[in-house]
Parts: sequence; C-alpha cells; structure tokens
Amino acid sequence: MASLLHSIFFLIILLHLALLTSAQSPYKNITLGSSLSNLDDNPQWTSQSGEFAFGFHPQQGKPVERGAKIQLTSNGVLLLSTQNGTEIWKPQLTDNSQVASAAILNTGNLVLTTTDSTVVWASFDNPTDTLLPTQTLEPGYKLSSRLTEKNYTLGRFGFSLQADNRNLVMYTIALPTEVRNGAYWDSNTVNTGQRLVFNQSGHIYLTLRNGSIINLSSEIPDSTRDYYQRATLDFDGVLRQYTYPRTSASNGRWPESWSSSWSLPENICAANFRGYGSGICGFNSYCRINQAQRPECECPPGYNYLDPQNTFAGCKQNFVSQSCEKNDLRITHGFEMRSVPSTDWPFGDYEGFKSVNENWCGETCLNDCFCAVAIFREGSCWLKRFPLSRGYMNYGSNVKALIKVGNFSTQQVPSVVLDGKNEKENKWFQPVITVLGGCALLTLLFLLLGFYRARPKKQNIRLQDPCTLGVNLLSFTYKELEEATNGYNEELGKGLLHSL
Ligand SMILES: *[C@@H]1O[C@H](CO)[C@@H](O)[C@H](O)[C@H]1NC(C)=O
Ligand SMILES: *[C@@H]1O[C@H](CO)[C@@H](O)[C@H](O)[C@H]1NC(C)=O
Ligand SMILES: *[C@@H]1O[C@H](CO)[C@@H](O)[C@H](O)[C@H]1NC(C)=O
Ligand SMILES: *[C@@H]1O[C@H](CO)[C@@H](O)[C@H](O)[C@H]1NC(C)=O
Ligand SMILES: *[C@@H]1O[C@H](CO)[C@@H](O)[C@H](O)[C@H]1NC(C)=O
Ligand SMILES: *[C@@H]1O[C@H](CO)[C@@H](O)[C@H](O)[C@H]1NC(C)=O
Ligand SMILES: *[C@@H]1O[C@H](CO)[C@@H](O)[C@H](O)[C@H]1NC(C)=O
Repeated sequence: MASLLHSIFFLIILLHLALLTSAQSPYKNITLGSSLSNLDDNPQWTSQSGEFAFGFHPQQGKPVERGAKIQLTSNGVLLLSTQNGTEIWKPQLTDNSQVASAAILNTGNLVLTTTDSTVVWASFDNPTDTLLPTQTLEPGYKLSSRLTEKNYTLGRFGFSLQADNRNLVMYTIALPTEVRNGAYWDSNTVNTGQRLVFNQSGHIYLTLRNGSIINLSSEIPDSTRDYYQRATLDFDGVLRQYTYPRTSASNGRWPESWSSSWSLPENICAANFRGYGSGICGFNSYCRINQAQRPECECPPGYNYLDPQNTFAGCKQNFVSQSCEKNDLRITHGFEMRSVPSTDWPFGDYEGFKSVNENWCGETCLNDCFCAVAIFREGSCWLKRFPLSRGYMNYGSNVKALIKVGNFSTQQVPSVVLDGKNEKENKWFQPVITVLGGCALLTLLFLLLGFYRARPKKQNIRLQDPCTLGVNLLSFTYKELEEATNGYNEELGKGLLHSL
C-alpha cells in the first residue's frame, strides 16, 4: 500500500478508573472538532463509566509515528492521520449519513451517531479478536487471532459464522493470504445457525433460525456485575472466555490476571485440522497441553525452535540430514532413533507396514534416507516425510514416535552465507483498534491508587504492577488497516510513555 503509516489507537479498559475520573472529566459526547494526539498527556476519550477509553496506547515493541492524530472532524469524519495530515484510516460508513457525534458506550462500543441518534457505525460491528458482553457476531462476520501474544499482526486462526451456510467454524488461515483451511471446530449448524450472542449476563450462545439456542459452554459464567468479561480468539487458536473481578483492588490486592473459565475447542492439540497447514503448532513440532491447560509446542529430540521468541512457529533440525548417496557414510553412520512416547504426526505418511515390531520399524526408518520419523502402534509402522505437521502428544495413548536424529550438528558445517540484505527502515502501521488494558496507563493508575491508598492504610497494601496483569483486550480492527501492515521504525507511544 502507498501510505505505510504507522500508528496505533485503542479502546482501553480503564479498570477501576471510575472513581478517579468521575470528578475530573465528566462524561460528554465526543463532539465534532474533537481530536487526540499521541503527544498529548492523556490521549483518549472515555466512556461515561470511565471503564472504557478510545485513544492511543503505548504498546511494547509496537511502533507509532509521533504526532499522529485521531479526530472527529467538524464535518463528521472520524479520522486517524499522521502529523502532516495524511489519512491512515477512517471507518467505512454504509451510507452518506451526516455524523453528528461519537461516543464510547458503557459496553465498550464506540459508535458514530447522526443528529437523530441513529448509529451509523459501531466498533462492535467490526470485531478483531475479542467479543464483549452485549456484542453479537452476525453471519459473515469473524474474529481473527493475533500472531503471537504480543504481536498484533493478523494471526493464523479465525472464528466465523459463515454467511453461506450459517455454520459457526474455527479455521486456520494460509498466511500471508487470508485463504481459509478446513475447519478444526464447528457448531454443526449448517443452514440452521442465526447469530452468536454474548449476552449481558455473560452467556455465549448460538441462536438457531428455529428459535433454539446452543450454549458454547455448559458452565454458568461469573456474573457481569462482579466481573469484567471478554471472549477472545487467542493467538493459539483457542476461543476463551475471560473474567476479571471488578472489585479486585478494593482489598488492596490485584488478581494475577484475567482468568479463563472455559475454552473452545476443549483440547486444541487433538483438534482435527483439515486441509493444508501445520495445525496449531508450526511444522516439525508437536502440541502438548501443559499443566495450566494451555497448548505448548515442543520440538522433538534433535530439533530446535525456528524462532525462540515464538515457539508456535515450528522447529528445525539441528543436525545434517542423512545423505541418499550410495557411498556416503552418512547414510547410516552417526544416526540413531530416539523415541517420544504418546506422540504422533497423523499426516505425511509415505509408507506403512503391518505385523512388524518396534525395532524393525525404527531400523527401517534409519536405513531410509527419506524417512524423518517412524510412528509405531500395535504392530503397525508408518514412515513420515518432512515437514512433520499437526503433531500431538496424547498422554497415555499407545502410539510411539521414533525420531531419526543425527550426531553431526549443523553448527559444524561451514556457515552458510546468509542473505545480507540491509533491513530497510520500513515504516510500520499497527492495524488495530482495540479495547485494551493500557499498560502504561494502568501503571499510572496503579501509582495513583497506590499513593492514594498508601496513606491511610500503609501496612495492608500489596499492589501488583498492573502491567503484569495481562489485561489486554483486543476488540476490533479494520481490514483496511490490516492490509497496510509492513515493517516498522519507531516505537509506539514513546512520547506518551514519556509524558506519563
Ligand atoms: C510481528 O510479526 C510480523 C510478521 O512476522 C513481523 O513482520 C513484525 O515485525 C512483528 N512485529 C513486532 C512488533 O514484533
Ligand atoms: C506526510 O508524511 C508521510 C510520511 O510520514 C509522507 O509519505 C507524505 O508524503 C507526507 N505528506 C505531505 C503532504 O507532506
Ligand atoms: C449525545 O449525542 C446524542 C445524539 O448523537 C444526543 O441524543 C445526546 O443528547 C447527546 N448527549 C449529550 C450529553 O450531549
Ligand atoms: C443470557 O442467556 C442466558 C442463557 O440463554 C439466559 O439464561 C439469560 O437470562 C440471558 N441474560 C440476559 C440478560 O438476557
Ligand atoms: C431447532 O433445530 C435444531 C437443529 O436443527 C433442533 O435440534 C431443535 O430441536 C429445533 N428446535 C425447535 C424448537 O424446533
Ligand atoms: C444454556 O445455558 C443456560 C444457562 O446456563 C441454561 O438455562 C439452558 O438450559 C442452556 N440451554 C441449552 C440448550 O443447553
Ligand atoms: C557420529 O557417530 C558415528 C558412529 O557412532 C561416529 O563414527 C562419528 O564419529 C560421530 N560423529 C560425530 C561428529 O560425533
């Protein structure tokens, strides 16, 4: 895209802000002619409750151009622009209605309204990876995960109520395109689904055309009176409902983080990934549910993470591959089979044997230069080729993976000449508008609260830096902005952080 501009603006959940702000900044509509700059001290518009805000938000490792501006112009256009006035983004209205004001409702919904209070654009109709209570997902709409926990670039997973067949599905995306692979979860409501509802009391369900409902969880959620709630399609492909106690700070203790009550699918490692793609974990790795009931991606013996910062990106061999040359000693010398229990890569078979034993299975793979892994189960043996995909450790199952590992490290090979292309200082535009627990902002609040509370009751205080709370809430974005993503230069909100 031509204008690779870069900024970020967010809706922010301002936890516990209500008390502090009610005196200072009473609610008012965002009137025409209002604007925010990321050079301002407090660049955000808040909801009446003070719990949600829309504006700039400092984001770790995220870039923004200083001087970027959000305006509701005098002729009713909500606009994100650079310092010199170049347009970065504006919402696409469906008709030519004249916008008279904007507001952040107490639900967290940012709306543009006309003089007769008709809503002509709502952030709730443009979700990214999060739904909030009172938000619905209509046919044709979707949630898209972020790439990693901290990288807001479009990720590998989607959750959509399909417009054509009314089935609610979770699917992987063939990045860098947005092509969908087959569903790994679905509601089985072909031609019967109507809309997904996250209702006021925290229930998430799919309504059917005949009036029935399908609950997404069987659990009764925490009450929305006592808990903030959200449902997020996480970067690991799991939809989770999260809660965070509203009154947590009242006793001087912050909870550890948002906690999730249930997830969809229940066991993502075991999900049936159809079509192309590596599944939840990257190629050559396998998925394992850890003690916290979260998926983790592990490398088999002889393999390392491709990107140690992103364990979901797959693994690479750390030894030199077996040669297929007849007289090359490396055909078998220096290779051995190591076993990983209860693990399988169900795809990528190129050979299968029956009525054999484990030893024979391993030897056969060892002596076959095409073989990366052999899977042995109850007398059956399958040989797998690269890259290994959709690996899964299923505790207690009687399947065994035999991994071919070489002792000649890739480190010992003369180093390959790497492409020394100079990384251009690409400008990068973070394409999200979110509902977010502003970290720096919360830190400020935290400090304020800490200070405020510290005086009367010093000995009881055990405040925790809210930056560690993980209160991020990504709620909505704009496709146009996603397409503008590219490289980056300056960190987001440096000025903002400074001013805080
Ligand atoms: C996020 O991931 C994308 C794709 O890998 C990468 O280009 C970008 O630099 C990352 N952004 C940050 C801030 O790490
Ligand atoms: C505004 O700044 C951008 C880069 O930030 C530049 O590409 C563009 O040409 C500038 N436009 C004007 C009118 O100066
Ligand atoms: C806010 O704007 C709406 C119309 O967009 C209007 O009905 C309402 O009275 C305004 N509220 C205030 C407090 O100005
Ligand atoms: C939300 O949905 C649940 C389950 O359908 C229902 O019991 C509850 O009354 C609903 N709450 C509201 C406020 O509509
Ligand atoms: C609605 O349709 C679903 C599935 O098609 C069925 O299970 C349910 O019984 C129907 N409900 C009513 C009220 O007809
Ligand atoms: C959905 O959940 C609500 C609240 O827990 C419950 O009252 C209702 O019976 C459930 N409906 C179905 C179809 O399971
Ligand atoms: C690898 O193992 C083979 C056979 O055991 C041995 O001959 C060779 O020296 C080993 N190579 C390295 C680099 O350790």
